[in-house]
Amino acid sequence: MTTCEELDKWPKTQLNTSPARTSLRFLILLVLVMVLVRGVAPSPSAGCPARCVCDDQLVVQCAGQHLTSFPTDLPLATRQLIISNNRIVDLPPVPLNCLSDLVYLDCSNNSLTEISESTFGNLRKLAYLDLSFNTLTRVDDRTFGPLSSLVMLRMTDNPGLSDIHPDAFGQNSGLQVLDVSRNNLTELNVSSLISLASLRAVGLSGNPWSCDCINEDLCLWVHVEGFKFQDEGQTVCSGPPDLQGQRLGELGLQLRSQCHQGLGSWDYLFFVAIGFVIFAGGTVSAWAIGVVMVVYERYIKKKSEEMDPDDEVEQEAGPGLGGGVGGGATQQAKPHGNGDLKNTGHMVV
Ligand SMILES: *[C@@H]1O[C@H](CO)[C@@H](O)[C@H](O)[C@H]1NC(C)=O
Ligand SMILES: *[C@@H]1O[C@H](CO)[C@@H](O)[C@H](O)[C@H]1NC(C)=O
Ligand SMILES: *[C@@H]1O[C@H](CO)[C@@H](O)[C@H](O)[C@H]1NC(C)=O
Repeated sequence: MTTCEELDKWPKTQLNTSPARTSLRFLILLVLVMVLVRGVAPSPSAGCPARCVCDDQLVVQCAGQHLTSFPTDLPLATRQLIISNNRIVDLPPVPLNCLSDLVYLDCSNNSLTEISESTFGNLRKLAYLDLSFNTLTRVDDRTFGPLSSLVMLRMTDNPGLSDIHPDAFGQNSGLQVLDVSRNNLTELNVSSLISLASLRAVGLSGNPWSCDCINEDLCLWVHVEGFKFQDEGQTVCSGPPDLQGQRLGELGLQLRSQCHQGLGSWDYLFFVAIGFVIFAGGTVSAWAIGVVMVVYERYIKKKSEEMDPDDEVEQEAGPGLGGGVGGGATQQAKPHGNGDLKNTGHMVV
């Protein structure tokens, strides 16, 4: 925090005077005396960043000042910071996170391209954040995670913003208003958004939404809780071609049925059952054929023993042609016959 203390340039009258600040009190007294003597009010920019206006409500106003970088010398006690309508290219984490009392931050209409987990790492009191009209392209996991008091997040009109992580807002349980209108979003995983209990207004319009199964949950959400969505009439599909211009809410149910035409668990169970039946049927029939062959073999053998040896030759040859299943039985039967029979059997097989 030494870095933050060094940065503190807020007029000391704004701070609680502690016993350790006796010398400061003296300094202030001195300043007041000088002011009285000269008859002029203290400059409002005392302890205030260049080209900004700081008031006694702890508001720092730097809008439209052609700033290209984040203002330096910000008073640590700042509660509202307005840096909109400039050309600021990044939000450096160190000076920004020193403003631990910040409640309101307007960064709209700048040239911000990147925000990360460390950008807002210490702003636990921040309730309002505006990142609209910038050039952001993606929002990662946990970027807004540290903002535990966040109530309203505006992030509209970033023409290249096409990627918002599914858990980007998962920890902002107090979020009431989320506006991501007029970006380049084709899809949005709403699994964690749906569970935000306080969320009452969502802006999604003006994005090139893709109305296929990937956005099934999004469309269903708009369908079920349409009242939450600002400009719901302008929240339309830009693809696939046959659904272009259709409202997301209208397609919720259609996508639900369309995206679940594939095999369900009952279908798989059916296939398993069929497989089992085929397997069991095959086993049973093979066993039955085996039994029939053995019985037939024994029957033939019995019959042949009752007949003359001359007839036996013709009878024994028949089952030999029956194939593998009967083969064992044929060989078993052979030792009981005479030498002539054995030779005949081999010749036949
Ligand atoms: C953005 O800021 C510029 C000045 O830097 C201004 O001319 C322009 O109108 C602003 N745009 C919007 C949308 O506020
Ligand atoms: C928006 O995203 C598409 C791809 O989804 C890309 O081709 C296009 O260039 C993006 N538009 C802008 C302005 O970045
Ligand atoms: C959405 O994100 C959650 C969490 O990251 C993930 O479990 C889920 O599969 C995602 N849904 C889709 C449709 O990608």
